[in-house]
Amino acid sequence: MSNANGTTKKTTAGSRTVRFRIKRQEAHGKPSRWEEFDVPVQSSAEGSGSANVISCLQWIAANPVTVRGEQTTPVTYDSGCLEEVCGSCTMVINGKVRQSCSCLIDEYAPNDGDTITLEPMSKFPVNRDLFVDRSRLFNDLKRINAWVPIDGTYHLGAGPEESPEKQQTRYKLSECMSCGCCLEACPQYTLEDDEDKWEGSFVGAAVISQARYFNLHGTGKELEKKRLDVLSQKGGVSDCGNAQNCVRVCPKEIPLTESIGAMGRSVTVHKIKEFFSGS
Ligand code: SF4
Ligand code: SF4
Ligand code: FES
Repeated sequence: MSNANGTTKKTTAGSRTVRFRIKRQEAHGKPSRWEEFDVPVQSSAEGSGSANVISCLQWIAANPVTVRGEQTTPVTYDSGCLEEVCGSCTMVINGKVRQSCSCLIDEYAPNDGDTITLEPMSKFPVNRDLFVDRSRLFNDLKRINAWVPIDGTYHLGAGPEESPEKQQTRYKLSECMSCGCCLEACPQYTLEDDEDKWEGSFVGAAVISQARYFNLHGTGKELEKKRLDVLSQKGGVSDCGNAQNCVRVCPKEIPLTESIGAMGRSVTVHKIKEFFSGS
């Protein structure tokens, strides 16, 4: 097919063309711009059904020419597992935050000429194009001690017993992949590029839920007080406005509002104990 400038695009028999409208930015704080690319994908009728947003971005990387026929740079994006486990490919697709590796073109653009819009998440600084810097999220996970404190250098014997019910609860919470969808959707979580202000800014649903996950663990519970100290400060669980956007967008269907409620109660008990102990 030919584009607006009459340049011929590579297509294969039986393929249809999907137009990608992509927000591009050299780095955080630099001006952004939109570029459009026409990408050939196998139509569903051809039995392919396997094209996803990442495979289309790979095609664009190999053919970085806009629909206006202008040579440009390959679009930068992040990815790892390609099976919705690592969370690194998260971006805003047609206005909704989700993983791009599991975003199938047949669902989003079933017809020839359909358009898909890609933007980086807005709550994290842009490294480049669709690749954002989620350091604040990982830093908040460190602040709440999101780990089980064990020394792996010698045999510790059997761990504490855990009921099947608790295992079931924790299993669901363990599926969090720190993708950032819940933070992107949260009105209380705002872009903060000044590292000095991370402490005191709302930690968001994922971090609160991970605190619950590790507090429920027999050995992880040893660090419960430290986690509750962070969650009872400014930027902790009381900053949640209960809008519940987070739970609606979580791709792993983690019961985030349940976690926020549970941690809210734990923080209240923690504060009462501190008040009476005078610590
Ligand atoms: S419930 Fe709380 S964490 Fe979830 S979106 Fe609303 S304000 Fe954010
Ligand atoms: S809680 Fe869900 S939406 Fe939030 S980071 Fe974890 S997997 Fe992503
Ligand atoms: S590449 Fe890991 S979730 Fe998409």
